[in-house]
Formats: sequence, structure tokens, C-alpha cells
Amino acid sequence: MQNKLNELKAAALRDIHKIDSIKSLEDLKIKYLGKKGELTAILNGLGGLSKTERPLIGRVGNEVKAALTAALDSRLSELEDAELQKKLTAETIDITLPGRRIPAGRPHILTTTENEIRQIFGELGYTVAEGPDIEDDFHNFEALNIPKDHPARDMHDTFYVDDGRLLRTHTSPVQIRLMEKGVLPIKSIMPGRVYRCDADVTHSPVFHQVEGLAVGEDITFGDLKGTLELFLRRMFGAQRKVRFRNSYFPFTEPSAEVDVECFVCGGRGCPLCKSTGWIEILGCGSVDPNVFQAVRIDPEKYSGFAFGLGIERIAMLKYGVKDIRLFYASDLRFLRQF
Ligand code: DAH
Repeated sequence: MQNKLNELKAAALRDIHKIDSIKSLEDLKIKYLGKKGELTAILNGLGGLSKTERPLIGRVGNEVKAALTAALDSRLSELEDAELQKKLTAETIDITLPGRRIPAGRPHILTTTENEIRQIFGELGYTVAEGPDIEDDFHNFEALNIPKDHPARDMHDTFYVDDGRLLRTHTSPVQIRLMEKGVLPIKSIMPGRVYRCDADVTHSPVFHQVEGLAVGEDITFGDLKGTLELFLRRMFGAQRKVRFRNSYFPFTEPSAEVDVECFVCGGRGCPLCKSTGWIEILGCGSVDPNVFQAVRIDPEKYSGFAFGLGIERIAMLKYGVKDIRLFYASDLRFLRQF
């Protein structure tokens, strides 16, 4: 019986060494040490042995079991190591490969232009105010001295929403909302989206304006001129000539339109400036006393100026963009130029 055990041990150890997969090693373990395994059968049969043989065979049997268990365990960890090594070699990351390029985003040219305007007025001490895109007749027209039958309404091509509400046709209603709050003095710019039922190469149904408003005691048309001259030279070049031309807006009196010297021809005359040498940039004026009255500000005590400009128009002129629709077409070839 002892010989049989020793033979079994030798055979098992040989088998264990030959095994080269974890799965077959498990099968081998079952073959010898499982419930119906060869060694288990011998150990289970100890009861049938004589009293003298039983302790000896029992001890040798247990030694063989311990030896086989140890051999199986060490073979298992060898096989596991080998498997891990194989995996590591196969899955090595080649860090010499160039990475995948993630194209960097950038602000839209209209955002950049608006930011430039915010920056310049910010340095002059202007705060930024905003108002709703959906307006009522009072703020968009009435309070701005544009009554129901006023011809200026025709120029605004208004989108109406419902029960008299409308999409604001300009940022001027934000002036009204700001003055209604009654906190004076005011020095603010009001950037935002505006809407007009109009579309061609220079008109989009949605576009952007920046409104400006200064209200206080003793604010003059001279302050307006100084402020806008400074702004336009920062925007279009320090040497650029600027001129104020008499004009009309219902909400300002007197009103003016401001031209800058043509940046294509420098004033000599070209197709962009229609041979005039000048390019119209914005509208402005002193706040009309009727507007002050609509927001219960005393026009005898307070005065102010306002101006309004189109962001698309400025960007088109500054960067020579011929078609306003390019700003919204999301064509990266266009957008990456700036
Ligand atoms: N709201 C005018 C427009 O959309 C622009 C404008 C002109 C605004 C003169 C002003 C201003 O504040 O004084 O055409």
C-alpha cells in the first residue's frame, strides 16, 4: 500500500509538471484530490486496513496529499504568472504613437466683436444690462416716442408673438427698462439679440445690437461725441477720422449718425463706401424729453445720450465679410479665418 502511494505521488508530480494550462491543472486536481479522486479513494479505504497498517498508511497518505497540494498550488501560481506576462506583452501601450488631435474651439467672431465692445466701454466705466427678447409695445415703441401711427414703425418689420407682444426689433427697449428702475446716474451698454422680418445679404431676421445709455445731470452732446470718437478709434484704428452727421430717431433729439473714414480706401472713395470715403457705423443722440417723461425722469433736471450699433455690421466692415448669413452658417472654413 505504501508503494502504491509513492507511485501515485510520483505519477501525480510528473503530471503536474507537464500541465500547461490552468484549466487542465484544475482537472488534474480533481483526478487526484477530488471527492472521487485516486488519493481520496485510498484515504477513504483506511478503515479496511489492519490496525498496524492503518496509522502508517494514514500518515504517508496525508504526506502525499500535502505534497500534491503544494505542487498544485505552486504550478498554479507559475501558470498565472505566465499568463499575466503574456497579457502584458500583448497589451503594451506604444507611447511613441502620436496622440489623437482634438481640434481647439474658439469664440465665434460675433462673440469676439461683442467682447471687444464690452471691453472698451468697460474701461470707460460702463456696466452691462440686459432685457427680454420678447417685449411689449410699450417698451419697444411707445416709451421710445414711437406712437402707434408713427412711420418709424414701418421700418422695423416687426415679428408679433401674441396679445400685442413682439420680438424686440432693437435693443433700445432695454434703455426704457433700465430707466424705469429709477436708479441714476446710468452708464450702461446693453448687448443682445434683435429680430426683424427681413433677410438678404446684409439683413438677417436675427441679429445683434449694442445699445448705450448715459443719464445724469449735465450730460451733453459733447460727452456723446467724445465717448463715441474714443470708442470708434479703439475699434477701427487710432488715426481713423470720425464724423457726426445730422439725422433723425424718434427717441433722441438732436440725433446723429456716425461715420468712420472708409477702411478700404482710407477716404479716397471705393465700392465699399460707395465713393463717399465714409462708412456709416451707428445712430445716436441726446435722449428725447418725451422718453424721459415716459419713464418718469425729470427732463429739466436730467439729460443723457444714447447710441445703438449693429454687431454684425461692425464685424462685416472690420473683416470685409460680404454676406451676413455666413455668420450663422456654421461653416468652419469661414469661422476659422478669424
Ligand atoms: N434703435 C435704433 C435702431 O435699431 C438704433 C439707435 C439709434 C439706438 C439711435 C439709439 C440711438 O439709442 O440713439 O435702428
